[in-house]
Amino acid sequence: MSRNDTDSLPWYENPAPGTGTLAPRSWYAASDARRLSLNGRWDFRLSPAAGTEDESFARPEFDASAWTSVAVPGHWVLQGAGGAPAYTNVVYPFPVDPPRVPSENPTGDHLRTFELPAGWPDEGETVLRFDGVDSCARVWLNGVELGDFKGSRLPHEFAVGRRLRPGANVLAVRVHTWSSGSYLEDQDQWWLPGVFRDVTLLHRPPGAPRDFFVHAGYDHRDGSGTLRVECEGAEGRVLVPELGADVATGDTVTLPVEPWTAETPRLYAAELVTPGERIALRIGFRTVAVQDGVITVNGRRLLLRGVNRHEFHPETGRAVDARTMRRDLVLMKRHNVNAVRTSHYPPHPAFLDLCDELGLWVIDECDLETHGFAEVGWRGNPVDDARWTPALLDRAARMVERDKNHPSVIIWSLGNECGTGAGLGAMARWMRGRDPERLLHYEGDPSCADVDMYSRMYPTHAEVERIGKRAEEPPADAELDAGRRAMPFVLCEYGHAMGNGPGGLSEYQRLFERYERCQGGFVWEWIDHGLAHPELGFAYGGDFGEEPHDGNFVCDGLLFPDRTPSPGLIEYKKVIEPVRIAPGATAGAFTVTNGYDFTGLGHLEFRWSREVDGALVASGTLAVPPLAPGASADVAPDAAGDGLWTVRAVLADDTGWAGRGHLVAWGQAEVGTPPRPAPATGARPALSGSTVTLGPGVFDAATGALLRVGDVPVEGLRLDVWRAPTDNDNGAPWQPDERYGRLWREWGLHRMRHRADAVETGSDALTVRTRVAPAGRDVGLRTVYRWTAAGDRLGLTVSVVPEGDWRVPLPRLGIRFALPPAYDAVRWFGGGPGEAYPDTRAAAMLGQWALGVDALQTPYVRPQENGARGDVRWVELTGDDGRGLRAAGGAPFWFTARRWTSEELDAAEHLTDLVAGDRVHVGLDHAVQGIGSQSCGPGVLPAYRLEAAPAEFSFVFSPLG
Ligand code: GAL
Repeated sequence: MSRNDTDSLPWYENPAPGTGTLAPRSWYAASDARRLSLNGRWDFRLSPAAGTEDESFARPEFDASAWTSVAVPGHWVLQGAGGAPAYTNVVYPFPVDPPRVPSENPTGDHLRTFELPAGWPDEGETVLRFDGVDSCARVWLNGVELGDFKGSRLPHEFAVGRRLRPGANVLAVRVHTWSSGSYLEDQDQWWLPGVFRDVTLLHRPPGAPRDFFVHAGYDHRDGSGTLRVECEGAEGRVLVPELGADVATGDTVTLPVEPWTAETPRLYAAELVTPGERIALRIGFRTVAVQDGVITVNGRRLLLRGVNRHEFHPETGRAVDARTMRRDLVLMKRHNVNAVRTSHYPPHPAFLDLCDELGLWVIDECDLETHGFAEVGWRGNPVDDARWTPALLDRAARMVERDKNHPSVIIWSLGNECGTGAGLGAMARWMRGRDPERLLHYEGDPSCADVDMYSRMYPTHAEVERIGKRAEEPPADAELDAGRRAMPFVLCEYGHAMGNGPGGLSEYQRLFERYERCQGGFVWEWIDHGLAHPELGFAYGGDFGEEPHDGNFVCDGLLFPDRTPSPGLIEYKKVIEPVRIAPGATAGAFTVTNGYDFTGLGHLEFRWSREVDGALVASGTLAVPPLAPGASADVAPDAAGDGLWTVRAVLADDTGWAGRGHLVAWGQAEVGTPPRPAPATGARPALSGSTVTLGPGVFDAATGALLRVGDVPVEGLRLDVWRAPTDNDNGAPWQPDERYGRLWREWGLHRMRHRADAVETGSDALTVRTRVAPAGRDVGLRTVYRWTAAGDRLGLTVSVVPEGDWRVPLPRLGIRFALPPAYDAVRWFGGGPGEAYPDTRAAAMLGQWALGVDALQTPYVRPQENGARGDVRWVELTGDDGRGLRAAGGAPFWFTARRWTSEELDAAEHLTDLVAGDRVHVGLDHAVQGIGSQSCGPGVLPAYRLEAAPAEFSFVFSPLG
């Protein structure tokens, strides 16, 4: 690409950022200057290609009566206005030939006629602001071209005062799906063109500032705040009534303040008063630094308990309304999340106001990703090609200028997955110069030459530990090594929340708590991007016929698309809880540790309870002494006794994000020996005709198959090792380790055969000897079922001895059977109420729980193994009449209950493929394989692998009702 080549390209292919726009400035929600929202229904026409020279639609007299209309903000592909969404992760969905884009470039012409409100001032200027247009726009007002821009998730303003008319005005916007900017916006998400954020007309009175920059630091040594507001284009005063402050812009004032932190989001209402405009400010005092290799705010080390948040709504895509934004943040706060990385672009600006208000640490990330160049050996990567540098700098400036006045934003991120190049260095230098008071982040350059922290995505626990010890592998350059080794460490992405999982979060958290350098991380990611679809429920890549696509890799969030928390979020909440409540040294005592970074525990109330056999026998409140961050104390309820003790830390008062009584943290201790089922032995099997009766059990005499327990018909009871592989079992294709989902199929674990070798009726037992083995393989599991009984209790002991050279762990090891569909009310004592697997069980609280079979299912967008309950002592499945079956474990076990088999679950691609059959399929598992995070990260830790090894486990069944 020579300079001449780019000059001759149409505007949307030219790598230059745009023409005619104003210099970027801060975004703010409230001032006394007039504004007019241009959101609403806009006339709309879609053309299949960009090449059209026909700009007649921009003329005010153009007749658009034959056009359709769309909502702005919105994406036309989600409004039935033509075209369809398309999903790719890394690969560009068009040939990599920067900065050229395909001729097939769906183009949306948008028209909006608006009335200029009476009395709109003549003096001063009026600007037209676009908060976000994907992927580019060319703009006309009343037939006069204003200019064009790229940078989808960034604001652009035009001066329009001269062009406005009293009465009707016509705004015309041409949007192309693809532009040179698309090369810079290869984030892992749906490609969604459109005017997807607000369009606003803003009056700029004479004497109003062009821009302003609030500097509000906090000195933790003396508790003082230092305030200085730089104001450009006007002079004025800054009023902070609560502090009695009235300071000229540009002047510095130091005075005692309460600091802003994510835990104590103390904002001071203030006003910037200039001759032309009064602007409402909310000032938060805080100072961000790296001290001795650790990120600090207000002098204290931070522990980031974060999530990566894309903007997403299942119906409106990246057009996210204010209610949804608040809902996201309220959900984060309720789940103990204290940090957001705005992956991978600046969010709607109002989102940051909410972060200031509710209290979240923010990494604000620039709208920049060129990951698809990795597919071509990074040839032509725009961040390493000077011709793109103006576009990169433009993006950096638009983010920093827009968002610079938010106390919540503590770190700027250059972008995501762009490889390396001089353009990134240029961005970093500009950002540092403009805002030396914040830190810089970028993950993609291992040298960390431009940044303040070492950041990684998806490292293993072992690697995090080495980094924590500052003992990681050095990069080639010794000087860079020294620089990087001295830096703090964050995981900008970890814990890939795709489908069931992620597993292994607790183990990461322990490392973050242990090594000062490890300052936490951001789970990937906040929400599944499943798009609402009439036939499929939620759609993912490929469902709109697009090619190439990356399937359900777009559904990897802690929330389901409808914003219901998934078990992953419940688990994360428990893992990152800011108070640890652990069984203490003496029975019934607890050790309480304050895990906050800044605050004491005064905002919490501690409540204890004691349960015996699932029944509450005593409860009260617990006095916890004041504890500084990091401090612990041993406390004991003023009561004693065996049973299950639970201590809950709940909010003592209402907050902006949850009410009094909201559960923040909890811990449990079992005191005394938990009851175990009495052995069911002694009864004699009785043969009569074709059946054997043993206690309540009736068996087929020829096969040894269990037919009934009391009146309850039981079908197909047998050893089970299969589960519908999870996304984390399947692993990402690029994962170097063993990917079990694939291996399990190779080993045939989805098609185990059961050979009956012997049915032996003894004096006190019915013994069925079998060999369970996959077709086509020479490994097997010698499996013996030994049935015994006493009274109305039927005992089963299963012994399993592997044969052959097993080189693959088992998905699960237990039994399965089917019951009639009416037995669908489930009650159990064990972990609950939600799902748990060996490495995702932190949030499972011991207790007695009850749920219907349907409610036991976790609706992962792509169906897969789900819904297991762990640490179960007994489970009952009953019908409306109270009749049913109880199973108690010789040891704690896992159970699942579903209206479909694991095979049906495995075959389903969307939730709508799962059709309830006429059975309840029950799994009682002695052990299950962990989950891990291999869909984009490390696999199951060795401790959670279920190796094929000799095992014995038992259950006692009894009929109910
Ligand atoms: C990272 C990337 C994210 C997302 C994630 C996997 O490499 O930064 O955008 O693609 O992997 O879901």
